[in-house]
Amino acid sequence: MRKNIVAGNWKMNKKFDEADDLINGILTELEETELGENTLMILCPPFPYLEMCSDYSNDSYFAVGAQNVNDNERGAYTGEISAEMLESMEIEYCIVGHSERRAYYGETDAMIARKVDRLLEHNIRPIVCCGEVLEEREANKQFDVVKRQITDGLFHLSAEQFGQIVIAYEPVWAIGTGKTATPAQAQEIHAFIRNLIAEKYGKQVADETSILYGGSCKPSNAKELFANPDVDGGLIGGASLQVEDFVNIAKAF
Ligand code: PGA
Repeated sequence: MRKNIVAGNWKMNKKFDEADDLINGILTELEETELGENTLMILCPPFPYLEMCSDYSNDSYFAVGAQNVNDNERGAYTGEISAEMLESMEIEYCIVGHSERRAYYGETDAMIARKVDRLLEHNIRPIVCCGEVLEEREANKQFDVVKRQITDGLFHLSAEQFGQIVIAYEPVWAIGTGKTATPAQAQEIHAFIRNLIAEKYGKQVADETSILYGGSCKPSNAKELFANPDVDGGLIGGASLQVEDFVNIAKAF
């Protein structure tokens, strides 16, 4: 059975002591209330806090993910972080192709495909983001956009490799804007994505792939979103920076 996943994407937020407080706060909450048996929480802090986060995760209340990785194996790439480094720190997940990286750092589907390859070579599960911008939604192009992103970014993988992938559908117009896709809009495109995967890799692989929703997900709308059959959780930005909000979202299944 595919997992329900709530992943917190902290983006470029929190100083060291604030990060410590946030992780501690989440741990304290989790010690008091258990999440659903099939629910996995993943924290994706900025790189400098990965080790602290991993140390805390020893009690296995949550898994740890990075927010980005370089598409090269190693070498003269000043300021970059490799999949090999993440693996050596026992990081289990990594977000790839977030719309902010596509928009501000020129990430293409081809680059995202290479990042996915590096991660899989190092036994790290990619959380691969896709989603349309507002103009594309208004022109009813969301299906074409998402299909291109998934086909070009992921469909070079074998079925076995694809089994390691988590997808995050994040309509760009809903990220950090307070505008959320309606549960019906989310379900429609999640079902479309699952169908794409089924056509390429078969029903079993499609049924086992967790497809997360992202974009202004908060405690007040998480339940409605997660109640849809093809919405298997969320990639949470702003609301993952608050202990109570994040834990309440994780309890919304
Ligand atoms: P948001 O961000 O929850 O702040 O909208 C989601 C994301 O970008 O992953």
